[in-house]
This record gives sequence, structure tokens and C-alpha cells, in this order.
Amino acid sequence: MRAKITALGCYTPPRILTNYELENLVDTSNEWILERTGIRERHIADPDIATSDMGTEAARKALAQAGVDPKSLEAIVLCTVTPDMFFPSTACLIQHHLGAPRAWGFDLIAACSSFVYGLNTVAQFVQSGLHRRVMVIGADTMSRIIDYTDRNTCVLFGDGAGAMIVEPAEEGEDAGLIDFIGEIDGAGGEYLKMPAGGSRMPPSHETVDKRLHYVHQDGQQVFKYAVRKMYELCAEILKRNHLTAADVAVLIPHQANKRIISATADRLGLPPERVMINIDRYGNTTSATIPLATQDAIAQGSLKKGDLVLFVAVGAGYTAGASLWRWAY
Ligand code: UT7
Repeated sequence: MRAKITALGCYTPPRILTNYELENLVDTSNEWILERTGIRERHIADPDIATSDMGTEAARKALAQAGVDPKSLEAIVLCTVTPDMFFPSTACLIQHHLGAPRAWGFDLIAACSSFVYGLNTVAQFVQSGLHRRVMVIGADTMSRIIDYTDRNTCVLFGDGAGAMIVEPAEEGEDAGLIDFIGEIDGAGGEYLKMPAGGSRMPPSHETVDKRLHYVHQDGQQVFKYAVRKMYELCAEILKRNHLTAADVAVLIPHQANKRIISATADRLGLPPERVMINIDRYGNTTSATIPLATQDAIAQGSLKKGDLVLFVAVGAGYTAGASLWRWAY
């Protein structure tokens, strides 16, 4: 049994935070942000909106596109680093909001690689024959864990959500998952993290005063790893499937930095028109970048039925993953 993606829905909150507004918060400039990252603006959730709200909206759009009832969902995997709370899981909250009583599910935390991991996980549920209709959602409210006094990080992230429905391909249909590679390297854990709030450093006045509940990143270390690993995973997954970059209709990478994406594409020999970049409008939405970029690739005609699409992501952990699909619709 082969798993295929049958629908996609995305949600971004309406409020937009531009680089120019950030110039008023920290010592930065629109020129620096644009040149070093490719970001122009990002969406920011209103205070009363949390990750489950955005995830639910994205899920509803995917269900509407597929024209299927939430009651037919058998599992929901919710990818995030910003759950509404530690428990209950945000997957439970979304299952309830959607009205999907048959679905079991859980939250998956793999930072920026979460969606690629979650997509492969739900695909395995289908390919094993366990389920016939499952959903993966990537949703992050990064603005809740960003320190808007730290110019190293506050310019990078935005909020958003995206959801995909995965179902079995028809018999004989050439569509769906072809291959997946996942890789983690815990030695990179120091370089991108939210230090406090867990069992190692539970919340206290001290952790709040030291601003340890925010994202801390050594940007250069992560940059070097991302540039190398994105290329390596793409090259490996193509090679072991006897394909070349020329076979790929579109590369849809995690959107952390335009320079990381361009370096990967250059090394693979992919021309810009076959690489999806939309970081300019969303920034890094962590678990939501891949579905948001897929939505835009479809909208601009870069991804069509029958195309070979390569997803790739690198994130905190380190985590990294690539998956290759034949697009189904
Ligand atoms: O999605 C999860 C994975 N995350 C990533 O993949 C992020 C990877 N890293 C990056 O994208 C880049 O490293 C950053 C965009 C975070 C930083 O870009 P960079 O070119 O590596 O800059 P840098 O950290 O080497 O800093 C260069 C200079 C420094 O000033 P000095 O020491 O040379 O005087 C920084 O203080 O730029 C300064 N700087 C800024 N200047 C204006 C850092 N942030 C800013 C800023 N505005 N926002």
C-alpha cells in the first residue's frame, strides 16, 4: 500500500509584522534582515490565539478541500514546538475542536524538521494498512517564545499552520511517498534551544528574569550545519532512488534562511524556478514552513499532479529529514 497526500490547508494570522516595525524594537534594519535572511515580513497571532486555534483552522481547510467529514479521520499527528500547554497534547485539543471523535493522535516535537517527520509518520500508518485517512498538522506560535529584545532571533520567526491529509493511493496509481530519510545529531543540541520550562530547568522567577523561556540560537553554527545537511540529504535520497536533481519538479525546503536554501539548490544544480522560497512573506514558522511553501508552489504552478517533489528540513536537535513524493493531485 502506498500513501499519497490528498489535500492541503493552511492558516496564517492576519496581523503582519514588517522589518520596518522591527527597526523600532531592536537595533536592526530592513536591509540587514532582507540581505542576511530573505525575510520581509511575518505573520503574528493575536494574544487570544494559540497553536491549537491555528492548527484547527488549517485542518478545516484541508478537510474542506478534500470534501471529507472530520469524523472520518483516524489519526492526527500535530507537529509543534509551541503546544498550547505541555499536556493535554495539542493534538487532543484539535481533535476536539474539529469534531473528529474516531481519531487518536499525539504531538510530535522535532523543531523545524517536525513536519517532514510527521508526514512520514502518518504515511507509515497508511502504508502499514493500519489507517485509511490520517492528518498531519504543523502549527507554531513562535511569537510566544521569541524575545523581542534579541535581534539575533526576533527578526527570524513568524506564526502559522498547515495541514495535509494522507490516504492510500489507488491500485496501480503512480502517486505518493517514494522514500524518506531521517537523521538526528544530539551533539548540536546546544546551538538552538529554549533552555527553561522543562524538567531540567523548571519555571522560576530566576528563569524568567534571565529570559530563559525564549529561543536561544548560535546562528552561525546552525547555518553551517543546515547548509551541509540539506544538501547531503537531498543528494542521498535522489541517489538511492536512481534519480538526479533534473528529475525533481520542485524542491520544497524548510524556510529558515534564503541563503541556506539557495546554497542547497546551487550545490544540487537546481535552477531558482524549481526551488520554492516564500520566506520573504512568512519568516521561519518552524513546523508550518513546508505546508505553507507547498501551498504557494501549487498556487504558482510549480507543483502539479504527477510531479516529483522533494521536501527537506533541518532544525534544532539537530534534526534533519528529507522525503520524496510523487504528487497526487
Ligand atoms: O529553523 C531552524 C534552524 N535555524 C536556522 O537555520 C538559522 C541559521 N542561521 C542563520 O540563518 C544566520 O546565522 C542568522 C540569520 C541567524 C544570522 O546571520 P549571520 O550572517 O550568520 O550573522 P552573524 O550571526 O554572523 O552576525 C553578523 C553580524 C554581527 O555583528 P558583528 O559581531 O559582526 O558586529 C551580529 O551582531 O550581524 C549582527 N546581527 C544583526 N545586525 C542587524 C545579528 N542579528 C542582526 C540583526 N540586525 N537582526
